[in-house]
Amino acid sequence: MRIAITRALPEPSSTEILIGHEVVPLEDLPQGQREAELASADALLATPVERIDEALLAGAPRLRIVANCAVGYDNIDLAACRRRGIVATNTPGVLTETTADLAMLLILAVLRRLREGEALARSGSWVGIRPTQLLGTDLRGKTLGIYGLGRIGEALARRARAFGMEILAVRRSDGPGSFQALLERSDVISVHAPLTQETRGRFGRDELFAMRKGAFLVNTARGPLVSEEALVEALEAGHLGGAGLDVYEDEPRIHPGLVGRDDVVLLPHLGSATRETRLAMARRACEEIARFFRGEPALSRVDGG
Ligand code: DGY
Repeated sequence: MRIAITRALPEPSSTEILIGHEVVPLEDLPQGQREAELASADALLATPVERIDEALLAGAPRLRIVANCAVGYDNIDLAACRRRGIVATNTPGVLTETTADLAMLLILAVLRRLREGEALARSGSWVGIRPTQLLGTDLRGKTLGIYGLGRIGEALARRARAFGMEILAVRRSDGPGSFQALLERSDVISVHAPLTQETRGRFGRDELFAMRKGAFLVNTARGPLVSEEALVEALEAGHLGGAGLDVYEDEPRIHPGLVGRDDVVLLPHLGSATRETRLAMARRACEEIARFFRGEPALSRVDGG
């Protein structure tokens, strides 16, 4: 089978698991050649950066499976896959702890002013410790609101409890009253829900200004859950105390109003980016394709089939 792979993967993944198949790396090809390769591909191994939509699928008539190398699959038009009988899979489970680590890191970084401290230490202008210098906020005794209590949200809750935080969690299915309570009672809110029609723009102006004054927002899920425009406004107004972001509304673009701020820690979508986890994700996505062509059931199918 011909298996198109959109981005270079950590190996050994495709080299071991897809042995016996023809693997076609697309990453360095000019657009026209990518399209030609897709036209004859039986499987596609994709990442969240690629939009797997009607237009792409129309140009890939032989495609039978799309294996997303990510737990999130908002980049895939599932209805279009279903119409064409294409199986879609993701990589849940293997990145849970790593992503929760990064959410914890952002919480610590924002509350303890890591960005400013780091800059001062490197600046050559540090004059030594002072009792009032760069005072941050303790985690202990604060309430962490978790929006989206799935695997990653649960893993973050375990970590935050170890730091002495109280946990207030809201599942997407909980009513509006719970969400309102989350906004009003949390000192830090960490976003862990997938991007869907319902969650897009969930943290807009009203919600951000309904958060406690001085509260912090952390997002390691998907950028479009939070309005960056509204976040900049809430930070500029001094309503929020800071934010830690790993994901953005329109990646790789980042709202210019966030870039220069000292109270915002920005990372380039690194939630699952450890050698161990990215390798496990790549292997899992390759495994889905290998299983499919062996006639075995998918480990994690997301197209509802
Ligand atoms: C995911 O798995 O959805 C992440 O965003 C990519 O690491």
